[in-house]
Amino acid sequence: MKKLTALLLAVVMLAILCCSCGGANTAKVKVIDIPLSEESYAFCVGQNDTELLGKVNEYLKKIKEDGTFDAICDKYFGDGTPAAITSAAEDKNKDQLVVATSTGFEPFEMVDAGKYSGIDLEIADGLAKYLGKELVIKDMQFEAVVTSVQQGLCDIGMAGLTITPARQEVVTFSDSYYSANQMLVVPGDNTEFDACKTADDVVAILNTKNADCKIGCQRGTTGAVYVDGDSDDPDGYGFAGLPATKMEYDYAALAFTAMINGEINYVIVDDAPAKAIAKAVNG
Ligand code: ARG
Repeated sequence: MKKLTALLLAVVMLAILCCSCGGANTAKVKVIDIPLSEESYAFCVGQNDTELLGKVNEYLKKIKEDGTFDAICDKYFGDGTPAAITSAAEDKNKDQLVVATSTGFEPFEMVDAGKYSGIDLEIADGLAKYLGKELVIKDMQFEAVVTSVQQGLCDIGMAGLTITPARQEVVTFSDSYYSANQMLVVPGDNTEFDACKTADDVVAILNTKNADCKIGCQRGTTGAVYVDGDSDDPDGYGFAGLPATKMEYDYAALAFTAMINGEINYVIVDDAPAKAIAKAVNG
C-alpha cells in the first residue's frame, strides 16, 4: 500500500513538473518561420553626402572581407557577449559621427542603462573609429530615423533599415549589409499556420480574414507597409496588402505584448527581431 501511495505521489509530482516547466505548447508566442518578403538592410546618409557614403561603403567592404562583420553577427546570433557601446554628448565643435537609430530592435540595436549594443551599433562604433570621429548615438522613434538624416540632424541612419523606393527619394543608401524579411508571429497556442510551407500558404490564410483581424507592427516600418499593401503605388515596395486591420505600435515589443494580452491577433515584424523578441518573451 505504501508503495502504491509513493508511486501515485511520484506520478502526480511528475505531472506537475511537466506542466510547470513548460514544453513548446506553453510558449506565449510562436514565430512562423517562413519569409514573407525579401528585404535588404543598408545605412542611409544625406542625399548629397557622397563623401560619407564612399567611406561607409569602404568600411562595409573592409569588415565583410576581414571577418569582422561575421564575428559581430555570430556574437548576436550565437551566445556571445554584446559590446557595451557608449555615446558621447553631441558637440558641434567636435569631429563626431552622429548616428540615428531606434533601439528595441534586437539584435540590431538595443540599449540598457545608457549602454548600447547590437549589430548596427557595433558597426557604428567601428565606423566612427575608422573615420577618426567620436561616436554620438541618437536614439529615437523609428519613424524619425530617415527624416533626421534627410534634414541633416544626423549624419547616418543605422536602424535595421530596409532599402525602399520611398526612402530612396529622400536619403541615399549604402551598399546592403544584411538580407531580411517579414515574418508572422502568432499566439503560442495558435495552430492555424502549422501546415504552411511557403509564403503563399501563409498569405492564403491571412487573405481569409477581414477587418476584425488585427495585425500589429511597428509604426513606419516595412511591416506596416506589408499589412497595408502598396502595389498601387509606382514607387511602392510591391506588397499586395492584407484584409486585416493594421495596429501600429512605437516599438515591436509593444505589439507582442498586445498580442499576448489578446488585444490583437498577429504581429508582423522583421525576422531577426521576431525571433529575438519571441525568445525573450517565451523565456
Ligand atoms: N526593416 C524594417 C524597416 O526598415 C524595420 C526596421 C525597424 N528598425 C528599428 N530599429 N526599429 O522598415
